[in-house]
Amino acid sequence: MNQELLTVAMPKGRIFEEAVELLRKAGYDLPPEFDDSRRLILEVPESGMQFILAKPMDVPTYVEHGVADVGVAGKDVMIEEERDVYEVLDLKISACYMAVAALPDYSPELDVAPKIASKYPKLTSDYFREQGEQVEIIKLNGSIELAPIVGLADRIVDIVSTGQTLKENGLVEIETMIPITSRFIVNPVSYRTKADRIDDMVDRLAEVINGEEQA
Ligand code: PRP
Repeated sequence: MNQELLTVAMPKGRIFEEAVELLRKAGYDLPPEFDDSRRLILEVPESGMQFILAKPMDVPTYVEHGVADVGVAGKDVMIEEERDVYEVLDLKISACYMAVAALPDYSPELDVAPKIASKYPKLTSDYFREQGEQVEIIKLNGSIELAPIVGLADRIVDIVSTGQTLKENGLVEIETMIPITSRFIVNPVSYRTKADRIDDMVDRLAEVINGEEQA
């Protein structure tokens, strides 16, 4: 862990832009290369910070291992990964939800051996166990909507944001599961050793979030 710099793990992809916008509103002067770069480490020495850009599912891993002090991770990832990190703030960005979906003519009641495809095997397995339904889980890494269409699975558990992907692939939502937003997460050791800087970051972010809620 770098004692000089505060290392922030950021999720690459669709959450990244919203997270950068939030940080800028919170007063972090992030240079233009944040908007268009394939570099995986971006330094902002004047703020004493560096940013590492990870796959969204891996952000809590970097923070748990302490190579990042703090990070931005979706609630979906937090539930799936169960990492030993503190979740200190709901950033209220990248709002979406988890849902179960299937082809329109599918009836769960008639399915005796349901197969469920998901990028979230643990979350999916916990969910169906709680519902008392026995299912087989097929772990995929993306393009989950393909699975029912080609007959790999009967249902999927996935993120729905605009609903466009389901619609364009002729799938329908059959159950809404949990609302998802991005969270600010902190390594427990860093929370002690870099308390002032992390508290300041949390305060600045919270101020923007509360301000936007009241607007
Ligand atoms: C996510 C998710 C859905 C889609 C939902 O996939 O897995 O496929 O976005 O968004 P929508 O409701 O706005 O259409 P992502 O694009 O992150 O890629 P992936 O399929 O590789 O997981």
